[in-house]
Amino acid sequence: MRILSIETSCDETAGAVIKGVSPTQPVKVLSSVVASSEEMHKKTGGIVPEIAAREQLKCIIPVVRAAVQSVKSKAQNIDAIAVAVGPGLVGSLLVGVETARSLAYAWEKPIIPVNHLVAHLYANFVGESSKLKTQRAKQQVKSQNIPEFPAIGLVVSGGHTDLVVMEGHPSTSSGQVAIKLLGRTRDDAAGECFDKCARILGLPYPGGPAIAAEAAKRKAKSEKRKIKLPRPLMQESIYDFSFSGLKTAVARIKIDNKTELAYEIQEAIVEVLVERVMRAVEEFRPKSVLLGGGVAANSRLRESLSAKLKRQSAKLFIPEPELCTDNAVVIGAAAYYNYRPTPWQKIRVNPGWEINAPI
Ligand code: KG4
Ligand code: ZN
Repeated sequence: MRILSIETSCDETAGAVIKGVSPTQPVKVLSSVVASSEEMHKKTGGIVPEIAAREQLKCIIPVVRAAVQSVKSKAQNIDAIAVAVGPGLVGSLLVGVETARSLAYAWEKPIIPVNHLVAHLYANFVGESSKLKTQRAKQQVKSQNIPEFPAIGLVVSGGHTDLVVMEGHPSTSSGQVAIKLLGRTRDDAAGECFDKCARILGLPYPGGPAIAAEAAKRKAKSEKRKIKLPRPLMQESIYDFSFSGLKTAVARIKIDNKTELAYEIQEAIVEVLVERVMRAVEEFRPKSVLLGGGVAANSRLRESLSAKLKRQSAKLFIPEPELCTDNAVVIGAAAYYNYRPTPWQKIRVNPGWEINAPI
């Protein structure tokens, strides 16, 4: 089955064609195109919804065309169209959703509505990209694994920090939802905290990669840490997160060592995220742990979680960095394992769609 997928929740306009072969195998990426209005948001230090929506309008047709043409795919070879209908910015979402509806009408194809947050976790159900495969071919490619359920999932993006338990694929044709929300942020998301702290430090948008790069300049890893930031809610036996206090603490510090401060911000965020995941692993004994969302591209988080899970039976899945940030491949993957064809007339944007809520 070939699915053309579209993603326009925020500031990325993305199109992809994926191929699903069997529910027990990862999906294959046939094409993936991502256009970002990040450069424009750098000037404003964050996303301006109106600007993001206008950029979506400019990019959507070229992006979808490129995704389809690069696999020399004709409309007849596409079995369905998947689109992220929420959560996200309403103006941005509308661009992708209306494009998907128009294509579905013209080509007479079903649409599969996808939750953007759930899709971030489905990055772990995508087979290696051809680029990686060529590199690994020389080193004997391992057999490709697919996550098993139950799974603990952590979505860490610019707008969300959600920790969930998945008993299976969430949305089957019977409409069953098998995602249980354990905890979420009470205020700022982890990515938002990176972005806001970066702004305080005078670093560019998006803040996550900028803080990571600044932190990497720190020389001696063994150097005694001079700055100590709070680890919000860390000592409490709950699964919720809170990051706004961390940002306030950063705003109150006199910045005389930017590198040291960037390092400590990254440590504080990563420690809290890892502690919560490990607690969920102890309690639920899952077969898999799935990471997803832009912050999952963070090397320190990846290293730290891998090290902590080494002695556990749960297998850790972390997507390739380009599948952590917004893209359409993950939308197609989520649609393949949760195949719920819907006529275009019934598709609506759902800007506030929560990770554990039915459509
Ligand atoms: O998932 P995503 O691309 O978009 C949303 O759905 O929000 O996530 C974007 C967020 C931004 O806050 C960005 O600063 C953060 O992901 N991010 C990172 C890294 N790359 C992106 N945070 C920490 N380290 C990174 N390497
Ligand atoms: Zn996202």
